[in-house]
Amino acid sequence: MSQYLLASEHELDRLQLQARVWEAEASHMFDAIGVQPGWRCVDLGCGAMGVLGLLSKRTGPTGDVAGVDRDATYLAGAEHYVTSAQLANVRLLHQDVLESGLPGATFDLVHERWIMPHVDSPQALLEEMIRLAKPGGIIAIQEADQSSWHFYPPSARWPRLRNLIEAGFALRGDINIGRRTFHMLRGAGLQDVRIRAAVVALQDCHPYMRLPVLAGITTDGEIDELIADVESRAANPETMVITFTVTQVWARKPD
Ligand SMILES: C[S@@+](CC[C@H](N)C(=O)[O-])C[C@H]1O[C@@H](n2cnc3c(N)ncnc32)[C@H](O)[C@@H]1O
Repeated sequence: MSQYLLASEHELDRLQLQARVWEAEASHMFDAIGVQPGWRCVDLGCGAMGVLGLLSKRTGPTGDVAGVDRDATYLAGAEHYVTSAQLANVRLLHQDVLESGLPGATFDLVHERWIMPHVDSPQALLEEMIRLAKPGGIIAIQEADQSSWHFYPPSARWPRLRNLIEAGFALRGDINIGRRTFHMLRGAGLQDVRIRAAVVALQDCHPYMRLPVLAGITTDGEIDELIADVESRAANPETMVITFTVTQVWARKPD
């Protein structure tokens, strides 16, 4: 099994912070999809929170939400979240998403966010998502495109750090796979492929401005300077950040 690129002692906190930052945008997508009470949903690679709470609320007491992740630490974080938020219709599975053992053709909604860059084959993950969906069910994918990610006032150092982050990811997968998912779904023969693009604006020294630091990058001389630049900007109330773009793509499995 390949190692998760972002594994670090702070990753659980980062995952929960990140899930909260993107909650409103995920919510808009689920509204557009029209997630209904009673739906059976699965969040593949749910991490420490994912979209479990949003799906739990929408599907209600007659619904069923499964969260799948292969990392025991993040799942323990998810368990804590699910228990404290009293999400009675959520169950958690400690499994690899490609070997989840979940029965095929059973879910009204199969969702994943930000795990395609971490799996050996994004196409195999898409095929597994399609297998899990009922005929007529929805496959929904949220992935990143880094193009829009900027600090304002502009930083001369930031493009260099962003390129290094991209290069680091390239050893494992495509951090910008959000540029390709629309065509992946169309190419898979799914119906009614829809797309939304989401960015978040951050101000008031929001902790998510420090994402490039939180992402656990190995440091050396040059990167230390670039990280210090992010830290000083993130601590400055004059700073505004526009995040990377998250493309939200969803489609229907043919009946
Ligand atoms: C960047 S995090 C995203 C977490 C969550 N989807 C969210 O939106 O907050 C990636 C997650 O995918 C999980 N993951 C990566 N590859 C996996 C695999 N093959 N099977 C199960 N989980 C996997 C990691 O353990 C991690 O929790």
